[in-house]
Amino acid sequence: MVAWLPGALLASRALAQVQDGLNNSTAANVRSRLIESARASWELGTAAEALTEYSWPALSVFERSAFPPPAHLNFSLNATDVLQIAVQTVSTKPANSLPLIANQGSAADPASIGVAVLLANWTRPDPSTAAFDNAASGQLEHLLHDVPRSAEGAISHREDEVQLWADYVYMVPPFIAYYGALQRGNGGRALMQVAYDQCRLYREALRDSSGLWRHVALGTWQDNSHWATGNAWAAAGMLRVLQTLNHSSDADFFTKQQANLTEWIQEITTTAWSYQKSNGALLNVIDAPTSFADTSATALLASVTYRMATLTNDTSLIPVAEKAFAFVKDNIDGQGWLRGTVDPYAFHTPSAPDAHSPEGQAFVLLLVAARSAWKKFISG
Ligand SMILES: *[C@@H]1O[C@H](CO)[C@@H](O)[C@H](O)[C@H]1NC(C)=O
Ligand SMILES: *[C@@H]1O[C@H](CO)[C@@H](O)[C@H](O)[C@H]1NC(C)=O
Ligand SMILES: *[C@@H]1O[C@H](CO)[C@@H](O)[C@H](O)[C@H]1NC(C)=O
Ligand SMILES: *[C@@H]1O[C@H](CO)[C@@H](O)[C@H](O)[C@H]1NC(C)=O
Ligand SMILES: *[C@@H]1O[C@H](CO)[C@@H](O)[C@H](O)[C@H]1NC(C)=O
Ligand SMILES: *[C@@H]1O[C@H](CO)[C@@H](O)[C@H](O)[C@H]1NC(C)=O
Ligand SMILES: *[C@@H]1O[C@H](CO)[C@@H](O)[C@H](O)[C@H]1NC(C)=O
Ligand SMILES: *[C@@H]1O[C@H](CO)[C@@H](O)[C@H](O)[C@H]1NC(C)=O
Repeated sequence: MVAWLPGALLASRALAQVQDGLNNSTAANVRSRLIESARASWELGTAAEALTEYSWPALSVFERSAFPPPAHLNFSLNATDVLQIAVQTVSTKPANSLPLIANQGSAADPASIGVAVLLANWTRPDPSTAAFDNAASGQLEHLLHDVPRSAEGAISHREDEVQLWADYVYMVPPFIAYYGALQRGNGGRALMQVAYDQCRLYREALRDSSGLWRHVALGTWQDNSHWATGNAWAAAGMLRVLQTLNHSSDADFFTKQQANLTEWIQEITTTAWSYQKSNGALLNVIDAPTSFADTSATALLASVTYRMATLTNDTSLIPVAEKAFAFVKDNIDGQGWLRGTVDPYAFHTPSAPDAHSPEGQAFVLLLVAARSAWKKFISG
């Protein structure tokens, strides 16, 4: 019962709901813990994207300046931390491996580093260096020609059998779309269409009547649950494809595709947040009341929500994003570790008390970047 509260008190309550951002020292700690913990292929790819959006937004697909990137980076726009991931990956890749990291089992995860490798190629100081071009084109060729596909044409998430994971949507289509946007011309347009079609085919296979996506379909085992991180990967991956198409020189060819991607992302955000807990959290299985709260998926889906509000000027989900942001912020400890994550290697158990989620660290930076872009948008 708040009806009796005088106006001034109501106003101060409303103001109290406006969250302060993460201060720079907290964000810097989150970033340091990300860089020291990311090891697995998809963690490195996600870290590269998060570092780009957080520190070098002019190079990220969320800005028109992404295409083409500068041919040479300078002291103040150097992307050193992103390029480090590309250099490390390409210099340790066995010469006979087309995937950017060999023998992963996952056909999708190594490709997540592809955007950083393409940026390293584009901005390389020595034009005679072919290593990044070769590595990126090898990874693309492998995806398009070697990896098994579903009957409908979805490229498998796994090397050894056809199995579709929601995670794939963040690992593969953003790389293929970025590759196409850099190539331009008929070949580049064809690749951007492939990236879109892969999103479409994965949605057709994984989305069910709830409006949410199942985690894993086809193959020797399935995970039919509406895994929060899987839904967030799918929404965030489609968002990167949407922005790549939108900022490419061929955006006009992809009007209908952009409209569909927008709708498919909003389908996930709207449905998922309808299950948001009062403390701002998403549950690890979004619609399973006995599941546990997961800070990582909450962070990634909130980042998508701020980005979508910025693109569409539809603010209806901003209050839930602000609540999610406050929840994530409250779960960052003094060293910059995100607490209360799902164990990213087990999917359905919380992280052990002494363990951390490298992808969760990246999701916090994606959230900080998305929220800053939103703040910038509303302040004109
Ligand atoms: C940043 O925020 C954290 C947590 O809210 C706080 O402990 C710390 O003192 C702040 N640092 C600065 C420099 O304001
Ligand atoms: C925080 O970081 C941003 C981006 O690097 C910078 O623009 C801003 O000045 C910093 N704020 C403070 C208080 O140092
Ligand atoms: C660095 O490069 C960016 C992008 O090309 C440019 O906007 C910026 O002015 C350059 N900065 C300096 C100090 O040259
Ligand atoms: C890269 O840029 C950052 C921020 O602009 C700067 O602090 C750093 O010294 C630069 N590093 C290199 C190696 O140029
Ligand atoms: C690598 O960069 C060059 C421009 O320096 C570009 O012509 C080439 O297409 C790039 N390779 C890839 C795979 O994007
Ligand atoms: C967009 O989605 C609608 C409905 O799912 C579909 O009929 C249409 O073919 C899609 N458009 C494109 C360009 O894929
Ligand atoms: C890019 O997206 C915006 C919405 O964010 C839309 O208004 C605009 O028409 C799109 N541009 C192109 C060229 O497709
Ligand atoms: C966004 O929506 C608000 C309120 O509906 C409106 O005042 C503003 O002009 C819009 N901004 C843009 C960039 O379309």
